[in-house]
Amino acid sequence: MITVNEKEHVFHLHNGRMSYLFYVMDSGQLGHLYFGKELRSDGSYLHMVEKAHRPMTTYITEGDLYTSYEHLRQEYPTYGTSDYRYPALEVQGTDGSALCKLEYQGYEIIPGKKPLPGLPATYVEDPAEAETLEIRMRDPWRGLEAVLSYTIFRDCDAIARSVRFVNKGEKTLFLDRAMSLSLDFPDADYESVQLSGSWARARSIVTRPLPPGVPAVSSMRGNSSHQHNPFLALKRKHTTEHSGDAYGFSLVYSGNFLAQAEVDNYNVLRVMLGINPFGFRWKLAPGGEFVTPEAVMVWSNQGLNGMSWQFHALYKNRLARGYWRDRERPVLINNWEATMFDYVEDDLVRFAQKAQECGIELFVLDDGWFGARNNDRAGLGDWKPNPAKLPNGIKGLAQRIEGLGMKFGLWFEPEMVNRDSDLFRAHPDYIIQTPGRTPSHGRNQFVLDFSRPQVVDEIYNQMYALLSTAKISYIKWDMNRSISECYSASLPADQQGEVFHRYILGVYDLHERLIRAFPELLIESCSSGGGRFDAGMLYYAPQGWTSDDSDAIERLKIQYGTSLVYPISSMGAHVSACPNSQVGRNTPIETRGNVAMTGAFGYELDLNKLSEEELKAVKQQVVFYKQNRKLLVQGAFYRLLSPFEGNFAAWEVAEHDGSRALVTVTRILSEINGPYRRLPLLGLDPDRKYHIYSKYLSYEAYGDELMQFGLMLEDQASGQVIEGSGGSGSCEDFRSLVYEVVGM
Ligand code: DGJ
Repeated sequence: MITVNEKEHVFHLHNGRMSYLFYVMDSGQLGHLYFGKELRSDGSYLHMVEKAHRPMTTYITEGDLYTSYEHLRQEYPTYGTSDYRYPALEVQGTDGSALCKLEYQGYEIIPGKKPLPGLPATYVEDPAEAETLEIRMRDPWRGLEAVLSYTIFRDCDAIARSVRFVNKGEKTLFLDRAMSLSLDFPDADYESVQLSGSWARARSIVTRPLPPGVPAVSSMRGNSSHQHNPFLALKRKHTTEHSGDAYGFSLVYSGNFLAQAEVDNYNVLRVMLGINPFGFRWKLAPGGEFVTPEAVMVWSNQGLNGMSWQFHALYKNRLARGYWRDRERPVLINNWEATMFDYVEDDLVRFAQKAQECGIELFVLDDGWFGARNNDRAGLGDWKPNPAKLPNGIKGLAQRIEGLGMKFGLWFEPEMVNRDSDLFRAHPDYIIQTPGRTPSHGRNQFVLDFSRPQVVDEIYNQMYALLSTAKISYIKWDMNRSISECYSASLPADQQGEVFHRYILGVYDLHERLIRAFPELLIESCSSGGGRFDAGMLYYAPQGWTSDDSDAIERLKIQYGTSLVYPISSMGAHVSACPNSQVGRNTPIETRGNVAMTGAFGYELDLNKLSEEELKAVKQQVVFYKQNRKLLVQGAFYRLLSPFEGNFAAWEVAEHDGSRALVTVTRILSEINGPYRRLPLLGLDPDRKYHIYSKYLSYEAYGDELMQFGLMLEDQASGQVIEGSGGSGSCEDFRSLVYEVVGM
């Protein structure tokens, strides 16, 4: 998979479908050549380097009027020579100079892939699945060594990158910027695609042309954020969901990030992804090391959906890990939207009992069970059950739930503390705050300083005590505010720029310790819904609460956008009560079920309050989900109609061999007497006959017809009136149908 042209110093990573090429310049810097569809491995490519004498240029060597870093596409640009674009690396020495020049020292090819210490990362199970190229660079003047690591995967069109820095000099250095990935494209005739939004409406797809300048998305909140996801894609103007070139860049990290695309005056595009340099400064004492988070870049010539497949395949199979990675996820019920903080043990058991009667397998007790937590002003930090609500403790409640034949899950918000808590009273110094300044609060809570190992130990011990005494099969790990006044009491002044990163390392450490102690525990990540829905979290928690907005129609966009990068098995999706708590909308129970089923499925309402008819629908949904959840966790996901572009949302999940598919079609607003509609499917066997079933339809067709002419949408979802309904009465807003397409 990795070919080295020793004569020309060209490195070629290729896997039969995709190529990535770079070379060593005469100056020792690394230059970028190509990324895209595979090129032949015996080719010579140095002529791809474009050089010309241009006005107002700074050249590297006196007498040479052609070689300037400003005009060369580079692999890992540094600051201070002749390149005036943003560098991937900025280092400052104690002399105050920020100049740095990395020179090539050598390379090593390693079968498989090494783990990144303390950080989430993709992995292999067999060394034959991937090959890793490590390029050793050094700034001789500073003594800084940088090892650039590239892993190319055999079965997936992805390259994982990270950089390890070692201070081999005798003086302290400060890393002010250490990006995980930098990549120079020969032209900027792309549109960028980002996932942006806000609380309850995160990860909307935003597509924009790339103007000259430095468009970027980032977070400086300490969590990857609702506002922007650590992801960026590039597509050609003519690229669609299913055809054309698309590149995706995703950071396997949950803290502050920067994803930027710089377009220079010669229409060269530099993409960069890594820890946000704002608020970052890492002290590298002599002998010290720093490893960047991993960045994953994928390529596809099958459009944005093709890009998503690469991410889904890699993240589902080689980033998510452990007991739950390939297992069917339990259908859960969560009490939050139904009860908020107001419940006692018997209420919860009644709530779970009804769920059990509907076939639901896991009961999750959300916020409010611990300390003095009767509202959001108290209790965080005291992870002991509140005896007034739970007289038999968590252990007793868990036993009663298990007695019903269900599993028991519990909510935590490990990183937070309320002022009104025993933990805060005992250790007011445990929070992140700048001495002498008043710390801001969010939802009446403060952020524990997880950059301090003793704080992480305290929370681990409390969680361990509960998890080891009560039968808890699942935890929901929440995080309901971002970090402000970032400062750690445990670090000296010249290391305060490390706090954000050390904090997230502490979060990862706590996850890792819990997973080691309780390998069968299913962890669902959450941050006021999807405020930390990122690839870093997926390494520890195979599913995340996608959004605090549980309205099925809002969820169409949220889940559609999220699917650009993240597999559907990772998206927690629940049927909630109507009118919906967030937007006040009424939607049919079928639609709520259909939308939530394309995810880690569950309920978040009091089933005791449903009508007989609704309960019947719930029972049917649970049966249907259980019959199909293997496909829903493991299948190939196709986006068919975008809710960002029209009145319909449609998607398909198909077996990889094309033997079966489920197609979900939702019409958002009612459409009176609308056109006939057909929906071309994907991923079927053209020569195979299929039986198509839905609530209103049953017919047979070959795969070629279903993919070319399309699935016939002759039912309520297309606006058609059912005979005998007396007119247009059956046309309603927010209708949805699932079609089963079964190979015969
Ligand atoms: C925010 C989460 O997103 C909700 O699902 C719920 O767990 C609340 N926090 C509880 O405080």
